[in-house]
Amino acid sequence: MTRTILGIESSCDDTAAAVVRESDGKATILSSVIFGQTTLHAAFGGVVPEIAARAHAEKVDHCVEQALLQANVTLRDCDAIAVTAGPGLIGGVLSGVMCAKGLSAATGLPLIGVNHLAGHALTPRLTDGVAFPYLMLLVSGGHCQFLIVHDDDRFERIGGTIDDAPGEAFDKTARLLGLPQPGGPSVERAAAQGNPKRFALPRPLLDRADCDMSFSGLKTALLRARDVVMTADQSLTAADQSDLAAGFQAAMTDVLRAKTARALDLYLALAPAAPVLAVAGGVAANLAIRAALTDLCDARGIRFVAPPLALCTDNAAMIAFAGLHRLTRGECDDLTLSARPRWPLDGTAPAMLGSGKKGAKA
Ligand code: KG4
Ligand code: ZN
Repeated sequence: MTRTILGIESSCDDTAAAVVRESDGKATILSSVIFGQTTLHAAFGGVVPEIAARAHAEKVDHCVEQALLQANVTLRDCDAIAVTAGPGLIGGVLSGVMCAKGLSAATGLPLIGVNHLAGHALTPRLTDGVAFPYLMLLVSGGHCQFLIVHDDDRFERIGGTIDDAPGEAFDKTARLLGLPQPGGPSVERAAAQGNPKRFALPRPLLDRADCDMSFSGLKTALLRARDVVMTADQSLTAADQSDLAAGFQAAMTDVLRAKTARALDLYLALAPAAPVLAVAGGVAANLAIRAALTDLCDARGIRFVAPPLALCTDNAAMIAFAGLHRLTRGECDDLTLSARPRWPLDGTAPAMLGSGKKGAKA
């Protein structure tokens, strides 16, 4: 059996559309188009929700057209339309959902709302055919969690950040050090020249035997260390920037390594036949973090899977692929599908501390 599905993603700062085709159980990406918004937000030191929403609304139709064109298909060749329905910035999610509803109403194709995090979490199956259950570490600008992926609709969250996401911490660090956005790549570049031992930065929550993490205190410690240098010298030299960046990255890496080791303990207790740790999210691009996780897996005889970067970061192929799973289960939505700013993947896990009055974001 062959099924072709259009995916649409607009939950943060990438407008994306993709076409994925599944033939005899094997999924292939026919196209994956991404219109990034980095330049629109660069001056503000972070994603501005209003600007993001407007840019999504302007670009999403064109993005879909491009994805169909590049895949050499029309909507008539598609079997369904999958769209990110949350969690994310509500204006952006709405742009994608409204576009998908319009297309579904016009063509009669089934509409499938997809949880953005399920898209990330299922990607290792698309790229590497990984078998259930596997351990997923999702580390991006908005999310940070360990998930045991038992099945395509059963995700067990065993830990995560109680405040900032790692990418957010990298971005804030870049801002504090006067480095360009997005902060991850610029902090990594600066850190490569720096001495990670010059500033003693904390490794939060390592005294707790669980898989939860906290990065906001690390950011505050970095701010204090920077201010000590600024007070003494009136400015930051390139060496100061590099040493602070290296100290921050080393602390982040240590925390992720130690907490991943604990998450692996819980996962391995399930005695999976072919154990796998998979990563997703923009922070998974960081070479120091990747090396630490690779070492950890090598030492325990676990396969480490890092999908290609274009599929680790936000994209619509993962949404189409997750949509295929829902289509297979016969789980379709209708025009009452709503956009959700918060949508925990594991509804049974307790809300994370610091996740606000409205409950867990993810
Ligand atoms: O997954 P992603 O593209 O978007 C979402 O957050 O959904 O992740 C973006 C985040 C940004 O915070 C960016 O600074 C971070 O990933 N990032 C990195 C690196 N490249 C991107 N963080 C650390 N090291 C990197 N090389
Ligand atoms: Zn994402």
